[in-house]
Amino acid sequence: MAPITSSQFAKITFKLKDTYKWLNPTMKIALFGLLYLMMACNSSQDSETPVEEVIDPVNDPVELVGAALNYRNHCGGCHGQNMSSFVEREWTYGNSFEEVAQSIANGYTNNGMPAYGSLFSEQEIQELTNYILTEIEGKTLAMLEEENPDLSGLISSDDLTFRLETITDQIPGVPWGIEQLPSGAFLVTERGGSLFLVQNDGNLVEVTNLPDIVSEGQGGLLDVIIHPDFENNSLVYLSYSRANPDNGSQLATAVARGMLNGNNLSQVEVIFTALPYVDSGAHFGSRLVFDNSGFLYVSVGDRGRRDTYPQALDNAIGKIHRIHDDGQIPTDNPFYNTSGAVNSIFTYGTRNPQGMSIHPETGAVWEGEHGPQGGDEINLLEAGNNNGWPVISYGINYDGTTFTDLTELDGMEQPIHHWTPSIAPCGMTFVSGDFYGNWRNDLFVGSLKFEYLHRLKMNGNVVVGHETLLEDIGRVRDAEMGNDGYLYIVVEGPGRLIRVVPEQ
Ligand code: HEC
Repeated sequence: MAPITSSQFAKITFKLKDTYKWLNPTMKIALFGLLYLMMACNSSQDSETPVEEVIDPVNDPVELVGAALNYRNHCGGCHGQNMSSFVEREWTYGNSFEEVAQSIANGYTNNGMPAYGSLFSEQEIQELTNYILTEIEGKTLAMLEEENPDLSGLISSDDLTFRLETITDQIPGVPWGIEQLPSGAFLVTERGGSLFLVQNDGNLVEVTNLPDIVSEGQGGLLDVIIHPDFENNSLVYLSYSRANPDNGSQLATAVARGMLNGNNLSQVEVIFTALPYVDSGAHFGSRLVFDNSGFLYVSVGDRGRRDTYPQALDNAIGKIHRIHDDGQIPTDNPFYNTSGAVNSIFTYGTRNPQGMSIHPETGAVWEGEHGPQGGDEINLLEAGNNNGWPVISYGINYDGTTFTDLTELDGMEQPIHHWTPSIAPCGMTFVSGDFYGNWRNDLFVGSLKFEYLHRLKMNGNVVVGHETLLEDIGRVRDAEMGNDGYLYIVVEGPGRLIRVVPEQ
């Protein structure tokens, strides 16, 4: 019998090792059945290599085929590799075979669901539909949670041995942003529109009197941070999707602040709205950071309107903004005196920035953003930069077509790092302080697609190495340094707030 030749594995290759873990027993049998069939079909080719040496399912790079491969490469990044987003789903467009197939073919591009009708054949869409509906049948979220890896022991990384402490695993829905208060308690946002105070004992209390949040598509309640002088002014900042007061179907990324007393916000005011409002539920961004001088940075995605907004300075979309803590505009902003420009703009040409962090030593603002298919980026931001979206990009459209041949152009910045294929980078933080040895000043980025924490080993502003940590932990939405000096992450499925504790 002949080995499976590389030409049979046409497209992207990845390690079955990664995939294998989330395959259930039925799928494993099916997969090997399929591999066996492929080998059998290939038996006319001559080879002396015994099959046993060719396929080591745990260590060899091999490829999934058909619907499983398409799901892994095209859907799992947004819907969970274990299909968590479809299990126990309240379907918006219906879950009959026809309805699901139609959703896949037509997409809901306005809400961030790409259309696959031109990428996949009708048969591929049917197989994909069948695959999803079969996989989720009889499954519950609780069953998926049982498949989570056991991360209770000591974990070794290249430079550090550590363990995880789960502060709570009770966060409902999609936890999105975390921030530690001076008391040690945490504020955690839930995209559906709730803000939780996670007390030191792990109990959750819901914070009341939030601004009017619209939870739709990728929007909802997004990031949370506290004012640098929170101990004296109790100010909390929230980013979220806000409806146009004159037209409820149009949304914008907005920032509100309020004073936190106990579990109630008061004097809530909207200090920033990234206009114009757009009839779209996609690409809101958005992260909030204060720099060392007290300026507030707000990251805003392109709202799914790639060709309209990010390169034009007359709107607030697809930009990073720099404002005062009360929403006023600093007069030294790069486009403050540019006629026709939105004067809060700090940098432009940005796609969907869901990560932002201040470098612990240089104080510079760093940003991470989702590319389309491929082309995820980490950027170091300087006033007035054009980061190039969508004129230059390392990515392509979700349907496999290209929108630009350019990856570089004069006047546009190159990313510090880019990922192709995408990891879907979400929250990110530099590790600072003395607790983490060689991790210090490295950048830790949560991956939604591969459900791990990606460590970029840094030497100054240069990436000198990579390490993936906590594989299969769940979709990592945010990573932050607490004011207690520990690194924290928040993950989905179930919603867990986790402290990373170095072993001394
Ligand atoms: C970039 C993120 C993204 C990718 C990639 C993606 N989806 Fe979606 N998908 C979404 C979002 C967001 C929605 C919700 C849209 C809405 O509510 O209007 C959605 C909705 C759907 C729905 C309808 C669900 C319902 O409630 O009726 C189906 C079915 C679906 N996706 C299947 C797929 C399949 C299959 C793939 C891969 C071929 C895929 N999606 C890839 C983001 C994505």
